Amino acid sequence: MGSVIELLKSHRSIRKFTTQEIAADLFQDLIDAAQAAATSSFLQGSTIIRVKNPETRQQIAALAGNQSYVETAAEFVVFCADLKRAGNYCDEYGKAFEGDYTEHFLIATVDVALMAQNLVIAAESAGLGICYIGGIRNDPAQMVNLLQLPKGVYPVFGLCLGYPDQDPEVKPRLPTSVVVKQEIYNEEGDKAAIAVYDEQVREYYRTRTGGGHGISWSEQVANFLSGKVRPHMKEFLAAQGFKFK
Ligand SMILES: Cc1cc2nc3c(=O)[nH]c(=O)nc-3n(C[C@H](O)[C@H](O)[C@H](O)COP(=O)(O)O)c2cc1C
Repeated sequence: MGSVIELLKSHRSIRKFTTQEIAADLFQDLIDAAQAAATSSFLQGSTIIRVKNPETRQQIAALAGNQSYVETAAEFVVFCADLKRAGNYCDEYGKAFEGDYTEHFLIATVDVALMAQNLVIAAESAGLGICYIGGIRNDPAQMVNLLQLPKGVYPVFGLCLGYPDQDPEVKPRLPTSVVVKQEIYNEEGDKAAIAVYDEQVREYYRTRTGGGHGISWSEQVANFLSGKVRPHMKEFLAAQGFKFK
């Protein structure tokens, strides 16, 4: 058990991969591990699309903001939230489909995240490196076209998998006191703890980029939350059948 915890604590995203392929039986094991994740209401509301075609990979890399590792990773998969597969059976059993509530969207999206993270942990335990690719949501409509996703299915994120060709540092996380609260939510002491953490993060970026100013966590997230992030998502999801009833 200890070694699983150590493995989890040693996670870092990998963005440079060797050309070594992932053996077919290992890849199958990763999928089996992914599918073993808990799934809300036993819906199993996720579909994984494995993308091998180099042309498709190249187009996805470009639309994700020129993330070249989408092309160079041994494997690239797209995790989709899928209410269609189960929804088909409403028809089959003569029931009206009502699977377009916000809650259904949450259930399927959470399922995807749990399944993906199972796959990630399995992959890392086998010496592979991974990088999630949320950049695919830069142009989700194009993803729908490329992967021929039907209504009721949307691409949540991609995942690069391969043998690491780099050994980056583990990125520091927020202090426990900031993230774990006793009994009730309160922000006491957070500001001071985050100020110390900000310095750690600055140092992490300074090392990673070989000098420079190094941005703090608080500044980074303030920038993020004060910008408009993928404002097309609401309309895209509605068009894809996620109506947020
Ligand atoms: C859902 C999700 C989407 C992400 N999308 C991207 C991405 O498009 N490109 C990228 O380089 N990293 C992406 N990341 C990786 C994060 O930047 C990374 O996990 C975070 O900075 C923490 O670093 P670490 O994974 O090395 O600990 C994503 C992570 C998650 C969980």
